[in-house]
Amino acid sequence: MSRLSLKEQCKTLKLGYIPSIYLEITCHDREQYLTDLFAAELEARWANRVRHLIKRAGFPAHKTLDGFDWKPVTLPTNTTIGDLTELTFIERRENVLALGAVGTGKTHLAVALGIRACMEGRSVRFYRCLDLVNALLESHRQGRLQRLMAELEKVELIIIDELGFVPLLREGAELLFNVVAQAYERRSIIVTSNLQFGQWNTVLGDNRLTAALIDRLVHHAHILAFEGESYRLQRALSAIVINQSEE
Ligand SMILES: Nc1ncnc2c1ncn2[C@@H]1O[C@H](COP(=O)(O)OP(=O)(O)OP(=O)(O)O)[C@@H](O)[C@H]1O
Ligand SMILES: [Mg+2]
Repeated sequence: MSRLSLKEQCKTLKLGYIPSIYLEITCHDREQYLTDLFAAELEARWANRVRHLIKRAGFPAHKTLDGFDWKPVTLPTNTTIGDLTELTFIERRENVLALGAVGTGKTHLAVALGIRACMEGRSVRFYRCLDLVNALLESHRQGRLQRLMAELEKVELIIIDELGFVPLLREGAELLFNVVAQAYERRSIIVTSNLQFGQWNTVLGDNRLTAALIDRLVHHAHILAFEGESYRLQRALSAIVINQSEE
C-alpha cells in the first residue's frame, strides 16, 4: 500500500484541522505535542459547531449579554439574572416571556440568550412570529408540515419574536398554537411581545385558543416586564442633539 500524505491521512482519519494547525503547536516532548495538537483539533471542531448552530438559528443580528443593560427589565421575584444567563431555564425546559415597551431590549436579550445557548452546543431557532406562522402555513400547503414540526421537535430553544405586531388569521394562529403545545414541558420557548396577555386575543383572534396558548406558555415561565424609553428613540434624539451642537 502506497503511503498517503499527511493531508490525506488526516482526511481519512477525519482530523480535518490538523494539517493547517500542526506547525503552530510548540513541541517540548512527543506526548505534550500530541496532546496539544488533539486539543487544538477539538477546539477548532467546537468553534465550527458553534458557528454552524448560530448560522442555523437565523438570528437577525449578533447581540451579546455583555452589552445588555438590565435596567429596563423587572424580573419575577423567584427569578435571578443567573437563571437566565446561565441558561438554567433551558435545562429545566422553562419559558421566558419578554413583554413590554418598544425598543427596551426584548429582542436583544432573546438573541443574546439564544447565542449563548448555541455557544453551549444547543440547537436554537429564531423566528419573527409572522415568519414562523408563514413558514407553518406554507409547509402545511405543501404537505411538509410534519417535517417542519419534526425539525422544531429537535430544537432545544425556540425564539418567537414580535408576537403582536400583526394579527394572525385563524389557521395561522392554530398552527402557532400547535408549536407551543408541542414544546410544552419538553423544550424552552422565548416569546417577545409589546402586548400584555389581556391583548393577545386581538392577535390570535380566538379567546379559547388564546387562553390555551397563554396557559401553556406561562405554566413554567419567567415573565420579564420591560419598561422605559426606547433605546432607538434615545439614540436618535442624542444624534439630533449632537448634530445641533455641531451646527
Ligand atoms: N436594555 C438594553 N441594553 C442594551 N441595548 C439595548 C437595550 N434595549 C435596547 N437596546 C438596543 O436598542 C435597539 C432596539 O432594541 P430591541 O430591538 O431589542 O428592542 P425591542 O424591545 O425588541 O423593541 P420592539 O418592541 O420594537 O421589538 C437594539 O439595537 C438594542 O441592541
Ligand atoms: Mg423586538
